[in-house]
Amino acid sequence: MTARYHIRQAAEKDLEVISAMQATLFPAKKERVPVDTKKTKWWYCVYDRDLPAGFLCLEICSSTVAYVSRVGILPGARGNNLMVRLLRAAELYLKKRTDTVILFSDTLPDNPASMNSFIKSGWKTSDLPSRLSLQRKPPVVYWRKEL
Ligand SMILES: CC(C)(COP(=O)(O)OP(=O)(O)OC[C@H]1O[C@@H](n2cnc3c(N)ncnc32)[C@H](O)[C@@H]1OP(=O)(O)O)[C@@H](O)C(=O)NCCC(=O)NCCS
Repeated sequence: MTARYHIRQAAEKDLEVISAMQATLFPAKKERVPVDTKKTKWWYCVYDRDLPAGFLCLEICSSTVAYVSRVGILPGARGNNLMVRLLRAAELYLKKRTDTVILFSDTLPDNPASMNSFIKSGWKTSDLPSRLSLQRKPPVVYWRKEL
């Protein structure tokens, strides 16, 4: 039996697909095409066989710090542990290929699916170090994980 879900770091051909998912899940956000000329944002995507199912955006803050700035799973694919799997893929990549030692992220407090995914992935709630520029407007819960 072939695996149903496939996760990979996004290639050029995935960017339009991620843009479409972002537009569906975060219509208020202005950013439509996730092209990052500075190479400070890394995108991961998950497919349900050939169909797009979700994505994760990792922002590289420094040589040792990264931030999971956005995760989205399309409604039809939810309930399959996919945020956990995306986090695991991003963490594994950072651990193997970079000097990153700490990851941060955030959720709104009324988002149990997101918060439970962080908890299941071994993240802890956190203060955000003031030197990080990715501060969000309250109310927000910050998360951290040491790799
Ligand atoms: C957050 C999001 C990515 C999670 O998707 P997912 O990986 O499919 O998550 P699941 O639906 O499997 O839920 C994760 C866990 O939370 C639990 N959960 C989900 N909704 C819940 C609720 N309303 N109350 C309590 N627990 C809940 C699930 O049971 C699951 O735990 P389990 O595996 O032990 O059963 C998805 O809901 C999403 O894309 N939401 C819109 C965008 C968003 O909010 N992104 C995050 C902030 S940027």
